[in-house]
Amino acid sequence: MSKKSLLGQAKAEEHVADVKQLQQQVKRLEGENDDLTARMVFDSESPIVRSQVIVLLTKGSKFMELSTLAAKMGASERQTIDMLNSLKLSGYNVVQRGTKVAIVGEFMPSPKETIKIPMKGRRTYTFGVVSDPHLCSKAQRLDVLESAYNEFARRKVKDVYLVGNYIDGESRFNQYELLVHGVTDQVMYFVDHYPQRAGITTKFIAGECHEGWYTKKIGLDIGKYTEMFAKDMGRNDLVYLGHLERDIELKTSKGSCIMRLFHPGGGTSYALSYKPQKIVEAYSGGEKPHILLLGHFHKSGYFCPRGVHVLLAGCIQDQTKFMRKLGLAAHIAFWIVTVELAPDGSILRWLPEEFAFYDREFYEGNQWATLMG
Ligand SMILES: [Fe+2]
Repeated sequence: MSKKSLLGQAKAEEHVADVKQLQQQVKRLEGENDDLTARMVFDSESPIVRSQVIVLLTKGSKFMELSTLAAKMGASERQTIDMLNSLKLSGYNVVQRGTKVAIVGEFMPSPKETIKIPMKGRRTYTFGVVSDPHLCSKAQRLDVLESAYNEFARRKVKDVYLVGNYIDGESRFNQYELLVHGVTDQVMYFVDHYPQRAGITTKFIAGECHEGWYTKKIGLDIGKYTEMFAKDMGRNDLVYLGHLERDIELKTSKGSCIMRLFHPGGGTSYALSYKPQKIVEAYSGGEKPHILLLGHFHKSGYFCPRGVHVLLAGCIQDQTKFMRKLGLAAHIAFWIVTVELAPDGSILRWLPEEFAFYDREFYEGNQWATLMG
């Protein structure tokens, strides 16, 4: 090959290398631009973006590759992880398995540790109990709730335990008996209308039914979501204890008394005492609480099977069409309970006071009927 043609070949090779380098540069810039565009478009706080991710991840609780989700959202994997963390903080049950993610409509177990309340002086504790107010239902009884909290304030009760079904949720059973629809609006209504009194904290659990339907449907830890929503609206008096059940430990100097809040499932029984008895019978030795506050059944009463003080907490909702159809009575009531403990935590004195009410119609045009001030 001549000297001239060798020079030509070297120049050609140099040119190809330049072109390749240029192509790589363009590719890199395009990539950066894509990333920049994604960063500009993808806003993890946008309700539209959040809704899209929830819809994608709740479809049949099927797990999706993180990279697929990122591609579908037009975001980087880093941005998608940030988005998922933000959903977790909002109470969504985001579950990761290897490189796959999903939002799962299963119930989050309540924390195992008990909430300790030190018992000093005479070791007495007075607390309020309400259950099943089903806010957002047309059968809700805000008047009874207000009466209850007036009484709690008058008696200087500091802690009120709310044993689940604080909102009515949504399903085909109750869709025509609702005042408010949608999870955010129901929670907002609850936070707006649930009574608040200075010095009183309402500690609540969530049930598997009603508010729990949202958990099943969209994988949202509804109790946690409600507490966060309440805090955002300036209410620190609504404290979430857990899903279905939670233990409170009344701590004495030489022992403790366990009080369990429980919102069970299943239907009510012919005899009021039967369900409390069956629930307590199912506890193995050492698992039994000393006190059991039961929501769900909309029945009010007190029983003591196997030495467990069981309070059927009643409800604060009129009988619904659904209950009427099944021939189920609604016992509208709230309670104030005082317990006095021995130094080892055993119960010396148990004083349950029931405040019973009737259906709304009873108070209309009846001059002698009155709700408590
Ligand atoms: Fe209920």
